[in-house]
Amino acid sequence: MLGRILKDLFASEGPLRLGQTAFEAGVDAYKAGELAAAAEHFAGTLRAEPEHVQAHNYAGGIDLRTGRYREALEHFECARMLDPQRAEYHFGAAVAHRELGATEAARECSETALALDPGLAPAHGFLASLNFPGPYYLEVISMLHSLLRPRTYLEIGVETGQSIALAGRETRAIGIDPEPKITKRLAPGTSIRATTSDEYFAAHDVRAEFGGLPIDLAFIDGMHQFEFALRDFINIEKHCTSQSTILIHDCYPLSRHTAERERRTEFWSGDIWRLVLILRKYRPDLSVKVIGTAPTGLGVVRRLDPGSSVLQQNYEAIVGEYLAVDYSVLDADKAGLLALYPNDWEKVKAILQ
Ligand SMILES: C[S@@+](CC[C@H](N)C(=O)[O-])C[C@H]1O[C@@H](n2cnc3c(N)ncnc32)[C@H](O)[C@@H]1O
Repeated sequence: MLGRILKDLFASEGPLRLGQTAFEAGVDAYKAGELAAAAEHFAGTLRAEPEHVQAHNYAGGIDLRTGRYREALEHFECARMLDPQRAEYHFGAAVAHRELGATEAARECSETALALDPGLAPAHGFLASLNFPGPYYLEVISMLHSLLRPRTYLEIGVETGQSIALAGRETRAIGIDPEPKITKRLAPGTSIRATTSDEYFAAHDVRAEFGGLPIDLAFIDGMHQFEFALRDFINIEKHCTSQSTILIHDCYPLSRHTAERERRTEFWSGDIWRLVLILRKYRPDLSVKVIGTAPTGLGVVRRLDPGSSVLQQNYEAIVGEYLAVDYSVLDADKAGLLALYPNDWEKVKAILQ
């Protein structure tokens, strides 16, 4: 009797233990960057234990990294079936689908992943790039610098300097950020002011700082609550001319969850979308377009009027009004309401004439 029990026990445990040993060897090889060896171990794991869900996940990941997209998809499909509650398996399938050209399937899988794990940052970035193919916002800003050749450039919110580093050598540039963490090489004409934008505008004469020149180009990318960006817009426009351009980041949110006023997710655009609605309602004289560039759209505002006081005079009322506007207002026609514009360089050039 005992012999029979032991035999049965080993009969069921044998392959499992064999699979687990191979799996652990695979993880070690994977961590050491030995992908081919890791792939063999995971294949061994799956021969011994075809339903080893983590082995499917790792094997799928290696297939993705080595360009074997069809095989990757098969592994992630198995993983999704075996454990439908794990967001990362759906996300793996999404990436494989995209590489295989199946954009809609990729979108569905990444949305499923985000429904299971709303904080899954790579899935947000992935979905954003699916929605907005074409040049990334930094590339668009770089092209704008080349085209406009601004004499002066003001940037609010510089962080590591990725965007302000795009200002050319011939441009006088000022970057404002209370906590700059510059890691990029900046052009010689660029300087950084470690302060908030409100404090900066209260204490400095921008035109004087630019040697008497107006602001030719500005980029608002500081605090991502719309009232801050609205004040930034008001303060910048005063120093512009009718030929200047104001860029505003994060005007086209990916989802309600990533557009909350309080940051809950790594991928976050805040409620800058409200500023687009405000400008369109209270300043119909402006040209407002939001280029569909990843991650979350780039607002381009033209036909500026430094003499306009509408926004400043109605500031409190406008903020109160738009705090009460719920995200669901966008459900009716998000692209129309947020003035979505193609991420097509020839078309972008047309709005800068
Ligand atoms: C999204 S990052 C800017 C990224 C940068 N423009 C880029 O594209 O690489 C936002 C930055 O705004 C800064 N910030 C936050 N509040 C601010 C304020 N009141 N005034 C100016 N900058 C602010 C933060 O410190 C942060 O570095």
